[in-house]
Amino acid sequence: MTDYLLAPSIIAADFAHIADEVAMLESAGADWIHVDVMDGHFVPDITIGPLFVKSLRKVAKLPLDAHLMISEPQKYIPAFAAAGADSITVHAEACADLPSVVAQIKSCGCLAGVTLNPATPTSAIDAALPLADLVLVMSVVPGFSGQKFMPETIRKVEEIRAKLNALRSKARLEVDGGINAETLPLMKNVGADVFVAGSAVFAHPQGGAAGVKTLKALLSS
Ligand code: DX5
Ligand code: ZN
Repeated sequence: MTDYLLAPSIIAADFAHIADEVAMLESAGADWIHVDVMDGHFVPDITIGPLFVKSLRKVAKLPLDAHLMISEPQKYIPAFAAAGADSITVHAEACADLPSVVAQIKSCGCLAGVTLNPATPTSAIDAALPLADLVLVMSVVPGFSGQKFMPETIRKVEEIRAKLNALRSKARLEVDGGINAETLPLMKNVGADVFVAGSAVFAHPQGGAAGVKTLKALLSS
């Protein structure tokens, strides 16, 4: 039986009360904490770096899932690993040699993830697929929390699930962007098993814990 994981995105949290936000996620039943790193170059916005991950590591027991939306990720992978990231995911669009970046992440002791923008064909990750521990499919154009889910990315999850099955890979298949109670089941049906959610958790009308519980309930049904 597949175990489905919920990975709330910490960039939608209140940074002034980050320890409380982490405690809320952990007691509500979140599985991973997704950490969106943006550099103002690969994507327009700037969020956080290894220093913040180090602080998170001190207060979080859950695995930290770092999503590097940055140019030249190979320069920063050792710093994120040292800061306490458990998995590190890099963009195909940011890596000239994706398999070697995947190998670098593994050599730093982290699970290695690869991801691709909605406009990038799945063939862009083919060479790295046999090595990857995690594949992340972006269901919005990366850059901001709170965007609308792009239904055309459902087909990509299906395609990548088929490729992983053909390789007999045990890699996780994660989806990120616009995931909420309506869109999560669509991605679950085509083979995703890790679900990132920013606004659906933190902007839930009844609060973050209700957001986690609502999405977790969909994962166990
Ligand atoms: C998008 C980020 C996502 C995003 C998720 O650039 O990678 O992780 O913050 O937020 P929602 O769930 O609000 O789309
Ligand atoms: Zn993300």
